Amino acid sequence: MKIISVVGARPNFMKIAPFIKAIDKHNNTSTEKVEHLLVHTGQHYDDRMSRNFFEALSIPDADIHLGIGSGTHAEQVGKTMIEFEKVLKAEKPDWVVVVGDVNATLACSVTAKKEHVKVCHIEAGLRSGDIKMPEEVNRLVTDRLSDLLLTPDKLSGKNLELEGASGKSVKFVGNIMIDTLEEQRERAVHLDINELIQRNSYNTDKKIPDISNESYGVMTLHRPSNVDHKEIFEPIIDFLTSEVSEQLFLIWPIHPRAVKQLKSFDLFEKVRSSEKVILLHPIGYHDMLRLNMSAKIMLTDSGGLQEECTVLGTPCLTLRWNTERPVTLREHGGASVLVGNNSKRIREEFHHTMKLDRKPLRPELWDGKTAGRCLEAILRFTED
Ligand code: UD1
Repeated sequence: MKIISVVGARPNFMKIAPFIKAIDKHNNTSTEKVEHLLVHTGQHYDDRMSRNFFEALSIPDADIHLGIGSGTHAEQVGKTMIEFEKVLKAEKPDWVVVVGDVNATLACSVTAKKEHVKVCHIEAGLRSGDIKMPEEVNRLVTDRLSDLLLTPDKLSGKNLELEGASGKSVKFVGNIMIDTLEEQRERAVHLDINELIQRNSYNTDKKIPDISNESYGVMTLHRPSNVDHKEIFEPIIDFLTSEVSEQLFLIWPIHPRAVKQLKSFDLFEKVRSSEKVILLHPIGYHDMLRLNMSAKIMLTDSGGLQEECTVLGTPCLTLRWNTERPVTLREHGGASVLVGNNSKRIREEFHHTMKLDRKPLRPELWDGKTAGRCLEAILRFTED
């Protein structure tokens, strides 16, 4: 059997790493070898957004680089389809495996189906219900086309059932990203927080505080709905640099999109010079895991961090009005609460959440063994 798996952007790397390890394990023990090629579309290309993750997670270099780079959605998807079609025609795989919900996921699943190649989607069935979210479009199209839908939780299976997918095309396998978390936890726990701040610091001219005995929060923000509009982003920045900073240090590994927008709104200097806000470059997997392990609070609009906070138990404010990952919410036993991007609502929940203790939770099958179940499902798949 020949499998091509696809990565494009940062959140894909921690999902594909365990899958590749599962293939290696299979090939070491079975006579029926799986031939595997890794394709990197190149949507994320900076070392800090891409190569560092390959090294940290021991992902072998991609066999094929499509070199797509930045652009509008149509440019990224269109260019990826053109290049990936050539790969499929040359390599003729039995399966294309896509993960998550980025533009690479959509582009490569559509291209594969047009070339009559079977598609397996790992992390299928997540739905935010918000069609304005680019990732929701990617999820809907990918799931509609996939032959094998591997879901991270039971709620995702229900979403797929409501859309008419069921039976052997849908399999509940658990959360593959937690495989990576479990494998890397031990390495992360030994990292020194002051050292990692120093190493990743954005403000070379600002004195970096010693936070060994200080309480700190971590923030990430990159969604267009939060960072692309000044009337939304500015009140959030005001709140962070005033009330949040009064209570604790705020460590903010900042996404390139957020930097670009802060600068264009003339807000970057305000953030940079704020005494308790510690700006970092985008950080590596282990550094983020380490920060998350001891944070008093997480403020984020990332999907993956909501899940990691759930397993690590970090109280989390999700700066979105909806989530495709309801299993991470407090009403389902998780660690996070939706606060949208209205600063009044964020303020209320911030003060409440600061009183909460860490409470780790393990949703069903988030056991570190999902990748093996994914490969098994592909190997056992039979067409009607
Ligand atoms: C993408 C994903 C999103 C994911 C996020 C994680 C889609 C639709 N979105 O959003 O689901 O949560 O990745 O980061 O696929 N840039 C760099 N260096 C890079 C890559 C990008 O500077 O290596 C800049 C680009 O020029 C662009 C901005 O960052 O201005 C955003 O990049 P883009 O690939 O459009 O999407 P993300 O916002 O990162």
